[in-house]
Amino acid sequence: MTRVIDLRSDTVTQPTQGMRDAMMAAPLGDDTLGDEPSVQALERRVADLLGKEAALFVPSGTMANLLAIRSQTEPGDEILCHVDSHIYQYEGGAYAAVAGCSIRFVPGHRGIFSPDDALALIRHRDHHFPRTRLVSIENTMNRGGGAIWPIESLRAIRAFADDNGLCVHMDGARIWNAAVALDVPPAMLAEYADTVSCCFSKGLGCPAGSAICGPRETIERARRFRKMFGGSMRQSGILAGGALYALDHHYQRLSEDHVNAHNLAHRLSSIDGINCDISSVETNMVYFTVDPRLGDAPSLCQSLERCGVRMLAESKDRVRAVCHLGVSRDDIEHAADSIARTIESLGVGDPHC
Ligand SMILES: Cc1ncc(COP(=O)(O)O)c(C=O)c1O
Repeated sequence: MTRVIDLRSDTVTQPTQGMRDAMMAAPLGDDTLGDEPSVQALERRVADLLGKEAALFVPSGTMANLLAIRSQTEPGDEILCHVDSHIYQYEGGAYAAVAGCSIRFVPGHRGIFSPDDALALIRHRDHHFPRTRLVSIENTMNRGGGAIWPIESLRAIRAFADDNGLCVHMDGARIWNAAVALDVPPAMLAEYADTVSCCFSKGLGCPAGSAICGPRETIERARRFRKMFGGSMRQSGILAGGALYALDHHYQRLSEDHVNAHNLAHRLSSIDGINCDISSVETNMVYFTVDPRLGDAPSLCQSLERCGVRMLAESKDRVRAVCHLGVSRDDIEHAADSIARTIESLGVGDPHC
């Protein structure tokens, strides 16, 4: 049987036995009726971790981001964010379809921008224009290759937002990776944003679940919208129990994913036809481009899939590989060997694995 190494995303992890046990043991109530002990314990824990007044448990990162947008804007408002942001690229246009907002793109390298990049994009107060209301930043930045926002850049964006009467939302689906990589408490990154979303279903390895954190009043507004959007759950403590377990047992190990990503990038960078910048690997993501001689990225991914290595073609020439708790150091070596052999054999019949 072919050994399968799934590097498509850190969302593909299966719950570990310890997590399954914790989920089964979690005391349960009814979160919509306000008496879910495990959800409440998780919300308190996450609000503390991120240094915010309150937190709300929600089914997905997409819903957490949408609630952050809807709770801090009104229809007709405008959001400033980078064009590669998840909220713009991959959330079905919810910022427009559900929250009624428009978006203005701030230029920036790997998704990270400065007040100078954003200043001219703020609309003058005039009834012709949408109202600029929210700056949304992503940490780590997925399409930026898992890039971490430097703390001084966060500080600068906070000051910019304060000077211009704007709110800041941080899409922190992978804020845990950023905090572990910088070796700082996550609250040290979250303090520069009004609201922060975070996910348990990515590097932490849970089957589902995210949270939005922020000021109590904003979170209460988000709670109302969560109900309206159909995201208010019942015995969701079964999920919260897994998330509490993950914070205890899967948090520090994120650094192993970062080492694995670095090792993978190192191996990929020595393969002819692959262009991988090792210095751009800051957390658990590796992006690389494929020389057209090898075909395009989707066909390379198909060839690799036949050898048991699963990665995502993110565009015609760009591939993404993500390390997570289902992938060991040995898996990375094995995957790199398979990739090297597949590429060597391309153009000479079926790839041999
Ligand atoms: C940066 C970022 N934000 C938000 C999300 C959305 O999370 P979900 O898939 O739980 O809706 C993702 C998902 O991959 C993501 O990478």
